[in-house]
Amino acid sequence: MRRTTTRSGRERAALDAAYQECRRLVRTTRPTEHALMALMPPSAQPVCWALYAAFGHADDLLDRSEEAPGERGRRLREWRAALEADLASGTSDDPIRLALTDSVWHWGLDLADLLGALDAVQRDDDREGVATWQEWRERAHAQNVSWPEQLMRMLVRCGLPVPVRLRDLPGFTRFVEGLFLTDMLRDLPEDLDGGHVWLPTEVLDRFHVTPADLLSRRWTPAVQQLIAHLVGEARAWLESSRRALRATLPLGPAIVLDTTVDLFGAELDAILRAGPAVLHRQIRVPGHTRLRILGPARARAAVVWRLTLPPGGEAATAPARTPAVDRTAAPEFSMATRISEPPLPPRPHRDGARPPEIAPAQLPEHVAIVMDGNGRWATRNGLPRDEGHRAGAVALRDVVQGALEIGLAHLTVYAFSTENWKRSPDEVSKLFAIMRAELLDGELLDHDVRLRWIGSPDGLPDDVVDVLRSQEHATRNRTGLTLNVCVNYGGRAELARAGASLARAALSGEVDPARVSEQLFAAHLPHHALPDVDLLWRTSGELRVSNFLPWHAHYAELHFTDQPWPEVDRQDLWQALETYTHRKRRKGGRVAE
Ligand code: IPE
Ligand code: IPE
Ligand code: MG
Repeated sequence: MRRTTTRSGRERAALDAAYQECRRLVRTTRPTEHALMALMPPSAQPVCWALYAAFGHADDLLDRSEEAPGERGRRLREWRAALEADLASGTSDDPIRLALTDSVWHWGLDLADLLGALDAVQRDDDREGVATWQEWRERAHAQNVSWPEQLMRMLVRCGLPVPVRLRDLPGFTRFVEGLFLTDMLRDLPEDLDGGHVWLPTEVLDRFHVTPADLLSRRWTPAVQQLIAHLVGEARAWLESSRRALRATLPLGPAIVLDTTVDLFGAELDAILRAGPAVLHRQIRVPGHTRLRILGPARARAAVVWRLTLPPGGEAATAPARTPAVDRTAAPEFSMATRISEPPLPPRPHRDGARPPEIAPAQLPEHVAIVMDGNGRWATRNGLPRDEGHRAGAVALRDVVQGALEIGLAHLTVYAFSTENWKRSPDEVSKLFAIMRAELLDGELLDHDVRLRWIGSPDGLPDDVVDVLRSQEHATRNRTGLTLNVCVNYGGRAELARAGASLARAALSGEVDPARVSEQLFAAHLPHHALPDVDLLWRTSGELRVSNFLPWHAHYAELHFTDQPWPEVDRQDLWQALETYTHRKRRKGGRVAE
C-alpha cells in the first residue's frame, strides 16, 4: 500500500503509537539525545525519535552480549532487509520501521544515505577493532554523518533554508568525532560486556594499555591516564568545532549545536569525576546540571523557531513524496540535482487561502519584485540580519507557490544587487550561503518552475555560480512559471553591456549606427527575451527602484507596500495582482471612456 497524506483513523493511531514507542526507546536509552531533540521544532521531533530509535536499534542488535557475533550480524542484516521492504511498500508491522518509513515518505529524507549509515554499522560485525585514529575517524563518519544531515533536511521541509550537506561545513566532521568519542566513553562498559574495544590500538599503545586491561576492567594508572587523555581530546574537538560551525549555522540549529556541546561537555566532566566507575556503569550527568543547560536552551529555541519558521511549518501540508528521488546529473555541471518528475502541484496555502478569480487576459504577464526589508525585520525582532534573509527566502517560497496557483507567466525577483557588495563581508557571505542552500534544497525543484539567473558572475563565489547554472539547466524544460532571480544584478551595468555590444557590432560593420532602434538595442541586452515588466512591487515602504530593470520596467505599474519582505506571503502577491487589474494602462494614449 502506498502511503498518502490521508490516513484512516486506525492507521493514524498505529503511527502515533509507533512514534511514541521510538520516543520511549530514545528517552530510556539515550536521555541526553532525547533532551536535545526537544530543542527541534515540535513538528520535526517525532522524526528525530524515529531516526534515532532506528540507529540505536541497529547498534543494539550488534552489541547484544548474549549472542554469538555471527548471530548478531545476521539479525541486523535481516532487520535491514525488512526495513528496505517496508520502505518500498510504505508501511510496516514493526513500530520502529513503521515510524522510520513514515518519516522517509513524509519528509523526503535521503534514503540511500540512511541505508548507507546502517551498512556502516553492519560492517562492525566483521571488524575486530580499529588500528589507527584515521581508521577510527572513517568509522565515525560513515556511521554518524548522515543522521544530523537528515535533521537539516527536515528543517528545510519546515521552511527554513539551512545547509543540508553538513559534511561540507568546516568543523562538522570534528564535531561528529567529538560526539562519537564521548558516546564511546559513555558506552565503554556496554562495549566491554560485548567483548569490544573500539578505541584505536594506536592510542592504547601510546598509554601502554592492552585491550585485555580494559576487558578485565583493571583501573591502573595507565588506564586512568588514557581515559583522561580521551576526555581531553573529545572536549577539544567539540569546542573547536563549535567555534567553526557557529559562524555558518542559522540561529535555530546553532542553539541545538551549542546545547549539544554543553551537554556532552557535562558528560565528559562526569566521566572524568567517576574514576573507575567509568569501566563498570554508564555515567549520567546529574539532573540539576542538565536542567541548568537545558532550561534556557529550551526557552531560546522556542522563541527562535517561532520567529524564523513559517507558522505550522511546511511539512504539515507537504504532499507525500516518493522517497526514491530522481538524480539527474547534468553532464556539463559538477552538481547532481534532484528534480521531481512530473512536477508536484502547487503546495496549498497554510490557511487554505485560494487565489482570486482574475481572467488570464487581465493578469500582468510579468511581475518584478524588490524584496526589501529583511534586515530591518530581523533587527526589529532582535535577530541578526542573516536571519532576516533566511526568513525572506521562506517568504519567497510562498510567493512562488502563489504565482504558480494563479498562473503567472514571469516573476522576476531582486535577490542581490551590484550595490549590495557595499555590505559587510559577513552579511554578504551569509546571504550567498542561504541562497545556495535554498537553490539546492528548497522546494523550487519540486514544482513547475523554470529558473533563470539574471546578473553577472563577476565576483560571485564559484559555488553560487555553479548552483545557479545547474538549476537553470535542470529546470530548462519546465513550462509553468519562469522565475528570474537577479543575483549580482545592476540595471545600468546591463545597459552599458548592451551599449558595448552595439558599439562592437557597429565597428564590425554589422550594424548601421543610424539604424539603431529600440528593438535593436533591446536585442543586445543580455536577456533580450525577457518581456517588459507590467507590475513592479517593492516592499518595506521604500519608494525607489534601486537600479532594478530600468529597460524592462520603463512603463511598469508601481506598487509599494509597507510590510518588510519576511512578513509577505502569497496573499500579498494576489492583492498586488488585484490592484493591477484596476490600473488604467494608457501608455501615452488617451483615457478610455
Ligand atoms: C533586502 O533586504 C534583501 C537584500 C538586499 C539582499 P535588506 O537587507 O535590504 O533589508 P533592509 O532594507 O536593510 O531592511
Ligand atoms: C535592493 O534593495 C536590492 C535587493 C532587494 C536585492 P536595497 O535594500 O539594497 O536597496 P537600497 O539600498 O535601499 O536602495
Ligand atoms: Mg534594503
